[in-house]
Amino acid sequence: MKKILLLVLLILPFSVHASGDIGIPAKGGFPEYLFLEKVSEAEANSTAEMIAKAIALGRLVIFAQMGKLTDPELGDKGFTGAVFLSQWESSLEAEFMGASPAQQRIIDKLLWAGKLSMDNNQDRLNVKGVKWKHFLPAKWARETGLMFNSRTGIVTKQPSINYRHPSNAPDAKEIEVLTKLIKAGKDAKPVGEYAMMGKQKVYRYFDPIYLMPPCLACHGKPKGELDMLGFEKDGFEDGDLIGVISVAVPVK
Ligand code: HEC
Repeated sequence: MKKILLLVLLILPFSVHASGDIGIPAKGGFPEYLFLEKVSEAEANSTAEMIAKAIALGRLVIFAQMGKLTDPELGDKGFTGAVFLSQWESSLEAEFMGASPAQQRIIDKLLWAGKLSMDNNQDRLNVKGVKWKHFLPAKWARETGLMFNSRTGIVTKQPSINYRHPSNAPDAKEIEVLTKLIKAGKDAKPVGEYAMMGKQKVYRYFDPIYLMPPCLACHGKPKGELDMLGFEKDGFEDGDLIGVISVAVPVK
């Protein structure tokens, strides 16, 4: 009996971790003061909407250049951060009219991050002799989001049904929203609601992303066939919802 008790006492400290407790999110969360940019509740929805719209438009600006960017004959593509920024800014002009000072500061930081993300990819983009260099609208948006987050605390993501990049894995809320939006199909509307991120209240906003014909080379049919980057195609069709631009804006 004593021997068994001793054995249990010896094993106990190890079994705490051996029983599936690894990889669990730590409880609690970052304090409020670490969220650098905050907006009032009155501006929460319009701010999130602006950010999502700007990311969607930035994605389109890059999308329009994909032919050139994937041309293996070309070395220097000339699509620098500055060139990208000027095109992005002109596509955005109408979106930011009437932005408040707090919103303008956020927009400026987003423009800064988007330009930097483009600059950071120049070496990759200007390689000659390779068609696909792993630069895509989704990658630009992901890397922009990281730098934007550093300077604002605002979180942006592109959670999708079948995600390729691990940082786009949908969380529980995003799975719920995606399920709802898939059901709504073409009538899906953006969804917004308040939530807590650690100790900080945030406004979470989810804007649907739909597929266009050129996207189908990778996200289309036949499902399971390898695309040119080596991922299995998703099996989607033109106009299908693939995911959302997910934005979490800290509120005062
Ligand atoms: C050449 C293949 C290819 C094409 C074409 C393509 N994608 Fe993707 N897509 C990818 C890859 C690879 C990623 C992961 C990029 C990353 O974050 O590094 C991705 C990521 C995404 C994501 C984020 C979720 C995830 O999987 O990480 C969305 C949303 C998305 N793509 C939508 C689109 C849309 C919309 C189009 C057309 C406008 C498109 N894709 C065209 C390959 C492609």
